[in-house]
Amino acid sequence: MGLQTAVVGWLDERFQLVDAVDAELNRRVPNYTNAAYRYLGAVAVILIVVEFITGFLLGLYYVPDGAGNPAPAYASVDFIQHTAYLGWLIRGMHFWGANLLIAVALAYMTLAFWNGDYRAPREVNWMVGVLIFLVIVLFSFTGSLLPWDANSYLARAREISIISGGGVVPDSISGFIKYLTPCWSRPS
Ligand code: HEM
Repeated sequence: MGLQTAVVGWLDERFQLVDAVDAELNRRVPNYTNAAYRYLGAVAVILIVVEFITGFLLGLYYVPDGAGNPAPAYASVDFIQHTAYLGWLIRGMHFWGANLLIAVALAYMTLAFWNGDYRAPREVNWMVGVLIFLVIVLFSFTGSLLPWDANSYLARAREISIISGGGVVPDSISGFIKYLTPCWSRPS
C-alpha cells in the first residue's frame, strides 16, 4: 500500500472524506447553468477586474484635492488624459469599462430575474448579487465625481434632484446632500 493510499485511508476511516468528495465530483450539473445569458456573469467579473487594474493605474497620477481653480483633481485628470504615457487609454478603458459594467450587470440581473433565479434554494445568491450591484453603482457615482469637471457637477445635481423628488431617501438625507452641493461648485 502506497503512502498516499495509507494516509487517505487513515483519514477516511475517521472523516469519511472519499464518499463526500466523490459525491461532489460526480454531481450532475443542472441544465440551467449552461444558459447563454450566464456568460454575462463572467463578462461582469472580467470588467470588474479591468476596473480595479485601470483604477489602480489612474490612482498613481490622480490627486484627490478639489480646492483651488483649476482644482488639482481636475488638473491631474487633464495630465492623465494628455500627458501621461498611454494615460488616455487607461482612462478610456476605465470610463467605458464602468459604463459597460453597469449595462452588463443590469442585463445579467434582468435575465436572472426573468428566469426566477431568485427563488429558493438560491435566494442568498440573488441577495449577494443585488448587494454587489449596489456596490458597483456606488463606485460609479463616486468615480464620476473624481474628474471634478462640469460633468461631475451636473451629474450630481441631476441625481440629487432625482433622489429628493422620487422620495427614495428621507428628506433629511437628500437635504444634507443638497447642502453639500455648493461646496463642489464653488469657484475659488
Ligand atoms: C466597479 C468598479 C469601478 C467603477 C464602476 C468605477 C467608475 C469610475 C468612473 C465612472 C470614473 C469617471 C471616469 C471619467 O469620467 O474619466 C472613475 C474614475 C476614477 N476611478 Fe474608478 N471605478 C471603479 C473602480 C475603481 C478602483 C478600484 C479604483 C482605484 C484603485 C478607481 C480609481 C479611479 C480614479 C483614480 C478615477 C479618476 C480618474 C478619471 O476620472 O479618469 N476606480 N471611476
